[in-house]
Amino acid sequence: MNSVQFIQNLELPINLVYIVAALLFVFGLKMLSSATTARKGNMISALGMALAVVVTLFDKDILINAHTGELIFSGYKWIALGAIIGGLIGLIAAKTVKMTAMPEMVGLFNGSGGLASLLLAWAEFQRSLYNTEVFQAAPLGGFEASVIAIAVLIGGVTFSGSVIAWGKLSETMPSQAIVFPGQNIVNAILLIAAVVGGVMFAMNPVAGAYGIFIAIVIISLILGILAVISIGGGDMPVVISLLNSYSGLAACAAGFVILNNVLIVAGALVGASGLILTNIMCKAMNRSLANVLFSGFGATTAGAGKQVEGEVKPISPEDTYLLLEAASSVAFVPGYGLAVAQAQHVVRELGDLLEKNGAEVYYAIHPVAGRMPGHMNVLLAEANVPYEQLVEMDDINPKIENIDVCMVIGANDVVNPAAREDETSPLWGMPIIDVDKARTTIVLKRSMRTGFAGVQNPLFFKPNTRMLFGDAKESISALVAEFKD
Ligand code: TAP
Repeated sequence: MNSVQFIQNLELPINLVYIVAALLFVFGLKMLSSATTARKGNMISALGMALAVVVTLFDKDILINAHTGELIFSGYKWIALGAIIGGLIGLIAAKTVKMTAMPEMVGLFNGSGGLASLLLAWAEFQRSLYNTEVFQAAPLGGFEASVIAIAVLIGGVTFSGSVIAWGKLSETMPSQAIVFPGQNIVNAILLIAAVVGGVMFAMNPVAGAYGIFIAIVIISLILGILAVISIGGGDMPVVISLLNSYSGLAACAAGFVILNNVLIVAGALVGASGLILTNIMCKAMNRSLANVLFSGFGATTAGAGKQVEGEVKPISPEDTYLLLEAASSVAFVPGYGLAVAQAQHVVRELGDLLEKNGAEVYYAIHPVAGRMPGHMNVLLAEANVPYEQLVEMDDINPKIENIDVCMVIGANDVVNPAAREDETSPLWGMPIIDVDKARTTIVLKRSMRTGFAGVQNPLFFKPNTRMLFGDAKESISALVAEFKD
């Protein structure tokens, strides 16, 4: 058997390794669902990807010239170049990015995935045109042309949408929802135009269809921009998760374009898991995906809900210390303000002092506290808060009535009782941490300003609530100093 035959016979073993890689992806993903196994899960998935990449290097499409049947190695130089440039960018980004900038980095990675699928589909179309012209090969089949159009459309939307999402999250561009009359209709027309263009292209994918092809590319890029500019910065994590799902679908379509099984499987896994995460986030905010995508939330909801009446009772750090000193159970409820103040380390210090003082300490985590999934977990893990002290919303709520002091640190919407009490509130129905039911609740924030949803919080006016005004890090540091004195 000569080397060309040997490589042609590798198709079956390569596909068997692809199955192993796909299994590693699935097990890795499963392990990501628990904090204790997440690191291992990540490694296992990465191992699956490494296996897939290595065996793909033996693919006959890379090593054998389709027209002359000769063995070629020239493809490797491009692969090596791409791997070196991409690997370096990934390495530098992973080493330098701040934990709090993770959502925008994930956004950019999704965008790169979308762009890669678009370019791959484009290259495949270009290759078919070249083969038809030079080797009189048959033009693309209807199926291939359809998946090319799908990969371009989804890839283009993912790319430009992700760039806008990155801009909004990193505040490189204004983060408010930019809405104009008839926006959804314009988007619908563009989508229909892209689909019609895709059908026309798939029916006759020859050189004459180049104009239609480019039109699909341009429309998909515009569609991605328009779809995301109308969504407020606070909703970007949901959008990024959705775009992550799109990038998977684009990769899946790209997998069908080049008939690569592992790309199809990996793309489908990313598509499905992104959609599941999007759904979890929407549920935790009690909003539908349609509401996130089309309502211009943040631009339109400010001021809604019943007017809240009552008295706000400020408290000093000294008096807060006296309460904490006497408490036998304390729950910290962190929110977005914890990230803004970067107060995680001092919170941990205060938690340790309270434990030494004999109190039971909990860190109660709401699923959408902060601005990205797991935002609070990441911050608290950075401060080495033990996992056992993190308690989920559903586990803390049943025992909250017996907690002496709830310290709400820069959280607002996720502890807003209007979600339970006021049917007119935009937050109505959203599951919250019931801090208003604790014996005493201390809210740490800088002012009476609203949170992300732009609605007033009746918690601040409840008889058992005290407001400790100021930057969360400064307030907690003052409490730590009181304890140390
Ligand atoms: P928010 O409701 O946004 O409230 C954060 C509070 O932190 C603000 O009221 C602010 O009040 C306070 N704050 C800001 N900087 C502070 C500082 N340096 N020191 C002390 N306090 C500070 O946050 P939340 O309760 O975490 O709720 C999250 C919101 O984001 C929800 O509405 C959720 O639906 C939405 N959301 C979450 C996600 C994910 S996945 N987590 C995704 C999209 C949307 P002051 O300005 O008065 O200080």
